[in-house]
Amino acid sequence: MENEIGRLRVEGLDLIVHAADENALEQVRVKLLGRKGEVTRLLRGLKEAAPDERPRLGALLNELKQVLAEALQERAESLVAAAPRVKAAYDLTLPGVPKASLGAPHPLISVLEEICDIFYGMGFTRSEGPDVELDYYNFTALNFPADHPARDIQDTFYINDKVCLRTQTSPVQIRTMEVTKPPLASIFPGRVYRNESTDASHLPEFFQIEGLCVDRAISLADLRDTVVQFVQAFFGGKRQVRFRPHYFPFTEPSVEVDMVCFGCKGDGCHICQQTGWLEIMGAGMVHPNVFQFAGYEPDAYTGFAFGMGIDRIAMLRYGITDIRLLYENDLRFLSQFRGVF
Ligand code: DAH
Repeated sequence: MENEIGRLRVEGLDLIVHAADENALEQVRVKLLGRKGEVTRLLRGLKEAAPDERPRLGALLNELKQVLAEALQERAESLVAAAPRVKAAYDLTLPGVPKASLGAPHPLISVLEEICDIFYGMGFTRSEGPDVELDYYNFTALNFPADHPARDIQDTFYINDKVCLRTQTSPVQIRTMEVTKPPLASIFPGRVYRNESTDASHLPEFFQIEGLCVDRAISLADLRDTVVQFVQAFFGGKRQVRFRPHYFPFTEPSVEVDMVCFGCKGDGCHICQQTGWLEIMGAGMVHPNVFQFAGYEPDAYTGFAFGMGIDRIAMLRYGITDIRLLYENDLRFLSQFRGVF
């Protein structure tokens, strides 16, 4: 019996210390001290012992009972202390609820609106025209000769003989003049479509913004001043601008407008292909034939027009080298522009 008491002491204490939680500890308590537990069993067995041994064994058993009870108490307290303080309502180990991500304007739309804002500041109004356009507005009224290569099916998405997807925002000039008496200063942003194969600088659909200003004595100097104001407002600084002679059917004279490269300030670098200049738009003085088509008296009025690619302007400003990035809607790309505007 004495051996059994010793063994129960060692085993019982071991069970108590290793009880993992309150439930396990209660099971250990029942097993050791419960009515049908180990200690009770030994107490019952006392009567089998020799009478002169009983007092000593009884005392040993009482002491065992006390030792086990104290150990149970101690373990119960340490389990309570180790238990998480906040139980059901919050589990602080779970990952947090992610912040709802807010949308933001697409960089192209932000650039478009910023360009419009600059022209509003110079007194221009804004109109828009249809994407599906009559060949008449897209070409004929803009003084494209009947056999002009831009009318070729290679460049234009035709819907039928007379209807196409507009290849430029210039037709909105004609539509606006048809319904507006001069003087007039207006911009026309929108999507345009060309039958191009896709690469880093071409897509079959992109954005342009067209400008038109007509009055009795508008000159090339007015065009130049307007373009310089725009370039300096949008790209910043006292940025130099130059006009290069060019050809467009709807303007005479026609120019291409370059601004000094912001990468090298004119010395030549990889951004401007060593030229020191970056092309930003086409422009010119409205051709008298265009006035005639639109119903304006060609001898009474002069005007300037310009057209630029919004994608190109956005790419120049942000150093984007592949136009496709602007249309793939990859959030890793788009989120870089959040907060810029
Ligand atoms: N429509 C021309 C294009 O898509 C751009 C352009 C050039 C517009 C000269 C104009 C202009 O109004 O005067 O290439």
